[in-house]
Amino acid sequence: MMSAAPATEDTPTVDDAPTADAPAPVDDAPVTSADAASAGARVVLNNVGHTFDHRDMLFQHVSLVLLPRHVYALTGPSGSGKSTLLSIIAGWVEPSEGQVRRERCGRVCWVFQNPHGVARRLAVDHVALPFVARGETRSQAERHALELLDDFGLRHRAYAPFNALSGGEAQRLMLARGVASHAGLLLVDEPTAQLDLHAADTVNERLHALSSSGAIVIVATHDPHTRDACTDVIDLRDFQ
Ligand SMILES: Nc1ncnc2c1ncn2[C@@H]1O[C@H](COP(=O)(O)OP(=O)(O)OP(=O)(O)O)[C@@H](O)[C@H]1O
Ligand SMILES: [Mg+2]
Repeated sequence: MMSAAPATEDTPTVDDAPTADAPAPVDDAPVTSADAASAGARVVLNNVGHTFDHRDMLFQHVSLVLLPRHVYALTGPSGSGKSTLLSIIAGWVEPSEGQVRRERCGRVCWVFQNPHGVARRLAVDHVALPFVARGETRSQAERHALELLDDFGLRHRAYAPFNALSGGEAQRLMLARGVASHAGLLLVDEPTAQLDLHAADTVNERLHALSSSGAIVIVATHDPHTRDACTDVIDLRDFQ
């Protein structure tokens, strides 16, 4: 595991990026997650800081370049601003300081803390629908969905309705659906917070499947096992 904060060979510093007075953020034409990797997608955070009360900064001086095929754990104590930074990266919240550029990322997909599925819809259909929405036939979509369910250890639950899944299964289903949605940027907030130890383990051991999606993946967590399952760590305590 490596830290995302210092630049490494394949984690260019913001110095490599266009300067702060470069053209505005490019949220350009939709690209799929597979394209995102080859299109040179990246998220550049340049000296980002945030406060809600105009007094104490939650975090500051966050300068990072986030790349496809990495799964970044965003860690820090409760209240340190993990969910806030996800919202800033998504473009939903304007940072108090600095800039975020999403370059060639395409679609942004959130996987929330509490998985919301459709109670009586089959697990496989939750994952097949994004494929159908992109024009695949029902049987093609189902085949692709079953492959993804297999990646997330859910093949045997494919024909169970959502409300029959355990917490860990439901959370993994949402991760699979995130990949199916072909987002270029996948933001996952506390995937194990509501889960018992065993269910959390089943989620953690499948997190690596996210990296193969070709998306830039950021997972906010304070679970050390989740952190260890990611490829890189961004610890907000380094930015206080
Ligand atoms: N919209 C908002 N307006 C004002 N304060 C907010 C807002 N959203 C979050 N906060 C505050 O900012 C701080 C950081 O919140 P945030 O949810 O980002 O933390 P977190 O690290 O995700 O915490 P947790 O681990 O508990 O999920 C908290 O003190 C929270 O109360
Ligand atoms: Mg949070």
